[in-house]
Amino acid sequence: MEKTFAIIKPDAVERNLIGAILKRIEEEGFKIIALRMTHLSRRQAEGFYYVHKERPFFGELTAYMSSGPAVLISLQRENAVAHWRKIMGATNPEEAEAGTIRKDFGVNIEKNATHGSDSQENADFETGYFFSKIQIHSGAS
Ligand code: CMP
Repeated sequence: MEKTFAIIKPDAVERNLIGAILKRIEEEGFKIIALRMTHLSRRQAEGFYYVHKERPFFGELTAYMSSGPAVLISLQRENAVAHWRKIMGATNPEEAEAGTIRKDFGVNIEKNATHGSDSQENADFETGYFFSKIQIHSGAS
């Protein structure tokens, strides 16, 4: 079974959307392997998004991601990386398909409700950034 890593971002936590987003995750057949709510520091956000460090939006992205609590989630399912990206929809909620999480809950390209790993390699890095091997091992089936 494949694993991916998801975040319910500060804008969605602020608007009381944790339950609605977790419901979609479970309805789509994902198993929640590990989950934790935390308020990231700026340094933690910078480390998490280091692949984007040269992008012009890096400063705003890491300031926003450390602006309030977020929910960190390890997910397991067949084809987990691609399926989570599919049900999240496009990065920019305006371009996301109807019925996707970002279309329904996102505000703009920054406050886009959720994050999802874009490859298995990044899923492994992102999961390991926040969760220990024993947490993942004990939650996985
Ligand atoms: P996420 O999937 O978390 O990965 C990187 C994030 O950068 C992305 O979602 C967006 O929320 C954010 N972002 C902010 N501005 C931009 C932009 N101009 N292009 C792409 N991503 C952006």
